[in-house]
Amino acid sequence: MIRACIFDLDGVLVDTAKYHYLAWRRLASGLGFDFSEQHNEALKGVSRMTSLDILLDVGGMRERFSQAEKEELAARKNGWYVDYISRMTPDEIVPGVVRFLEDVRRAEIKIALGSASRNAPLILERTGLAHFFDAIVDGGMVSAAKPDPQVFLLGAELTGVEPAACVVFEDAEAGIEAARRAGMRSVGVGTSRTLAQATMIIPGFEGFTVKDLTERLEK
Ligand code: G6P
Ligand code: MG
Repeated sequence: MIRACIFDLDGVLVDTAKYHYLAWRRLASGLGFDFSEQHNEALKGVSRMTSLDILLDVGGMRERFSQAEKEELAARKNGWYVDYISRMTPDEIVPGVVRFLEDVRRAEIKIALGSASRNAPLILERTGLAHFFDAIVDGGMVSAAKPDPQVFLLGAELTGVEPAACVVFEDAEAGIEAARRAGMRSVGVGTSRTLAQATMIIPGFEGFTVKDLTERLEK
């Protein structure tokens, strides 16, 4: 029985990776090194400060900055990122997502957000997705990042559904692992081989229904 669907945001409901990338690349460029799209792959699903450490490693300069300086660099990147996402529109919702969320609602299954991003509320507001959610857990509400299960356990608690009746939708390996540690089943969204640990994998939401979900999970 599925009673709640918990969605990751970046890379599942909206494609914000490109904006994170533009902002991180701008930071790297200001520090005098190149940050490629391939490097950016390693930042998906990773918290802001850990992302900064990974980026500084690419430039070989992690040790050069104090904690206070790192906070300042992360804040600078976030300022640019917020500029980008403030201009987002509903057109940037991943294809098939709105129809699937409507289907979930119709099936009287709760909907929660479980995102590592502190900017999640702004993105939901800009894209017009906020009204679908019974509970929103963002990066500002948890102390431990995925693969720690905290973000999903809090989502379950806020919707009043036990973990065993929750399904997590994720595009990142750390998120699939967080779902497993929370005692929840998971749907890996995408084609990446890193999703192999998910209970099931879908390439995207187009044509995907709650009936498909329950049939495949309860097989
Ligand atoms: C998501 C994204 C990561 C991002 C993290 C924190 O997990 O996939 O790329 O670093 O959120 O986002 P924030 O908006 O708080 O910097
Ligand atoms: Mg993600």
